Amino acid sequence: MGRMQGKVALVTGAASNPGLGYATALRLAAEGARLVVTDREEAGAELCAAAIRQAGGEAIHLRHDVVSEEEWAQVINETEKAFGRLDVLVNNAGIHLTKSLDDTTPKEFQRQLDVNLVGSFLGVKAAFPLLRRSGAGSIINLSSIAGTLGIQGLSAYAAAKGGVRSMTKTIAIEGAPDQIRCNSIHPGMIWTNMMMQASVSAEAVKDALLAAVPLRRMGEPDDIANAVLFLASDESRYVTGIELYVDGGMWAQ
Ligand SMILES: NC(=O)c1ccc[n+]([C@@H]2O[C@H](COP(=O)([O-])OP(=O)(O)OC[C@H]3O[C@@H](n4cnc5c(N)ncnc54)[C@H](O)[C@@H]3O)[C@@H](O)[C@H]2O)c1
Repeated sequence: MGRMQGKVALVTGAASNPGLGYATALRLAAEGARLVVTDREEAGAELCAAAIRQAGGEAIHLRHDVVSEEEWAQVINETEKAFGRLDVLVNNAGIHLTKSLDDTTPKEFQRQLDVNLVGSFLGVKAAFPLLRRSGAGSIINLSSIAGTLGIQGLSAYAAAKGGVRSMTKTIAIEGAPDQIRCNSIHPGMIWTNMMMQASVSAEAVKDALLAAVPLRRMGEPDDIANAVLFLASDESRYVTGIELYVDGGMWAQ
């Protein structure tokens, strides 16, 4: 029996490979969960669902912009139609911006909040009724070390991820009477398309960044997928409202 046997999980932002949503979806499916994978990039979400099926799992994919309340309603509807229940929501979809506060426009700041914070709020709000009907649930929100540490050039991103961190604790309290748990994961530097786009591939930048990581290496998507798996499974049934750092020791310094 897999660690997620009998559970249905919804993972947003699952199109990117290498990406945290993609790796998480495959990991949860490998442990027996049935998956709904969504992304605004439908082709990538389809590839993720196909990879799960190829490995012997069950999955559907949906095109989904997490900023749209209407699309969240459709995604929850389709989840119910396909699998009849929902046990786990992973709010993973996100965007990144590295810019000094001076250079960040109000529009860019707002966009970070919309996708990274409001998108997660809409997801929780839409999923709550179906999670309640399952008798228990686990919500996992992807925050960041930037949600608690001051990091140069990340003011807009950090504001959103800090919001995710605080909102997670309130959701944990409000969900508790229905046995709905909610925790945040705070990745450090994990090797994904997001990091490549943030030009971390430039060797000089990479070396400078890695100097801030006690374990002196970047994490891999599976490092996050394994943390999500723990929080999604019943092994963490008494864990709610925590922030789990998966960062090679960055936060400990
Ligand atoms: N990679 C890291 O080091 C790192 C560190 C800290 C936090 N995180 C967080 O982890 C999550 C995943 O990051 P990643 O590195 O896999 O990023 P990624 O860019 O590789 O993947 C993000 C996915 O989200 C999707 N997405 C973006 N906006 C969307 C929207 N409006 N609606 C639906 N989907 C949307 C993208 O299409 C993409 O498939 C993000 O929330 C990110 O902020 C990542």
